Amino acid sequence: MSLVIAIDGPSGSGKSSASKGVARALGLRYLDTGAMYRAMTWWMLNQGVPVQDAEAVAARAGEPVLECGTDPDAPTIAVDGTDVSGPIRTREVTNAVSAVSAVPAVRERLVALQRQIIGTGGIVVEGRDIGSVVAPDAPVKIFLTASEEARAQRRARDLAADPAATVELTQAEQARRDRLDSTRKASPLTKAEGAVEIDSTGLSLPEVIETVVRLAKEST
Ligand code: C5P
Repeated sequence: MSLVIAIDGPSGSGKSSASKGVARALGLRYLDTGAMYRAMTWWMLNQGVPVQDAEAVAARAGEPVLECGTDPDAPTIAVDGTDVSGPIRTREVTNAVSAVSAVPAVRERLVALQRQIIGTGGIVVEGRDIGSVVAPDAPVKIFLTASEEARAQRRARDLAADPAATVELTQAEQARRDRLDSTRKASPLTKAEGAVEIDSTGLSLPEVIETVVRLAKEST
């Protein structure tokens, strides 16, 4: 298998920017698995499925057809042929995604799709369970963290288009999401065995990218 770099961590730890930067620096593909859980959630909401009802979500989990573009300069996600890159970032989806991603039938379907996309490698994959479940044999596993405040500030910037998204509110919603993601039964967010932990709080983005690139070069 050629290079697979697994980057896991809580929301707002800087995974997306770091993962895309590493993929660009090394000429690899990029997969945002969070976008897949968001797309599944967007579809459930759009269909009127009660997302807090795990059985109802499981019953429909096989229906939407997801397609992911893996160019780090222009990653895309489509559901049933419609690009949903914008709609999956709304607060409504963000606040519903942890309930949907906790449903085992959803995870089974998306993990299979993720492994299919990873194929023989040459890819940076970001998520919550990449190093622990999706690609436990990945030669490079990173657990990216940052202080709660730094994470909330990043998220608030991401949500700048939403006038209700203050740092305080974002911090509360993010803490709730991380608690749900870390305590669920199916593949909770955890530092995988063999993962290197990087705390990005005091690091610039280029420094984080450089650290991961160095680890990747050392692994080959
Ligand atoms: O990374 P992002 O914040 O976009 O992820 C959205 C949500 O998708 C997470 O809060 C989590 O519930 C779910 N997720 C997951 N496993 C992954 C990636 C994301 O459960 N590998």
